[in-house]
Amino acid sequence: MSPARGSLLGIEHLDAAEILRILKFARRMNPDKPRPLLKGKRVVLLFYEASTRTRSSFEIAAKSMGAHTVLIQAAGSSIEKGESLLDTGYTLRAVGADVIVIRHPNAGAPHVMARHIDVPVINAGDGLHEHPSQALLDAYTILHNKRKFQGLQVAIIGDIFHSRVARSACHLLSKFGVKVILCGPPELVPDIAATLAPGLRVTRHLEDALRGSDVVMLLRVQKERLSGLKIDLADYIARYQMTLTRLKMAKKDAIVMHPGPIIRGLELTSEVADGVLSRILEEVKNGVPTRMAILARAVGKMR
Ligand code: CP
Repeated sequence: MSPARGSLLGIEHLDAAEILRILKFARRMNPDKPRPLLKGKRVVLLFYEASTRTRSSFEIAAKSMGAHTVLIQAAGSSIEKGESLLDTGYTLRAVGADVIVIRHPNAGAPHVMARHIDVPVINAGDGLHEHPSQALLDAYTILHNKRKFQGLQVAIIGDIFHSRVARSACHLLSKFGVKVILCGPPELVPDIAATLAPGLRVTRHLEDALRGSDVVMLLRVQKERLSGLKIDLADYIARYQMTLTRLKMAKKDAIVMHPGPIIRGLELTSEVADGVLSRILEEVKNGVPTRMAILARAVGKMR
């Protein structure tokens, strides 16, 4: 079965026109002036992994448009008893889910669900694969601050290998011709990362990434995914931690982004996280209208 119309499984196969359509609609969304586009709809938030930002903003987005939301987390549900992904999906369909928002540790889990269940499926992060709603809210934030994609240079610094956020961001920015420079040690940013999408470049040198950059996107070093890799965190901090002094190497009006959760003292200092160039909380805020647009699209109301 093809995924139900309105599903959002990734950025890689979404065309630029559709991305712009979602972003344009998101600009019209305001959770404080809700429109009942999802009135009476049931939105299931199915989270097999921890989340604060994605889960809360999808829930606020859905509720602000009149939907009922149901949260299912692996702990405390029948997933703990061994129920399969598809049996959980069939169950949610049977109880009347109109949209399923799913986060799963395995790449491709939302795609499997979407191929078997005739309900729009929204990928809220699948393993190391994609995090499309994060890429869209980041694009919304970049456009809000920089007005257009043309001519921009974005430095993405940190654990890119383990980052679904980076993967979705690279796909999206590359579709608009943005120059993207990926920066970090080879264990976290392998050379092959440059082949993910057109227009990407890998560097090991922070200065090389920062010079001329309009956007500095920092990523968390995902300690929970580092087993087997030789990463010396003290060395990482010495070479790549974003400090106010280092940030001065980027353009004067560069903005700092981070999908969160941030680890102060590791990938960035508190001065950077809380500084005037930081857009970290703006990204979180923009998650709500962006996810309102994604949900409206899921139920065919993005018009
Ligand atoms: N950026 C992001 O996905 O954050 P959460 O894991 O808190 O949802």
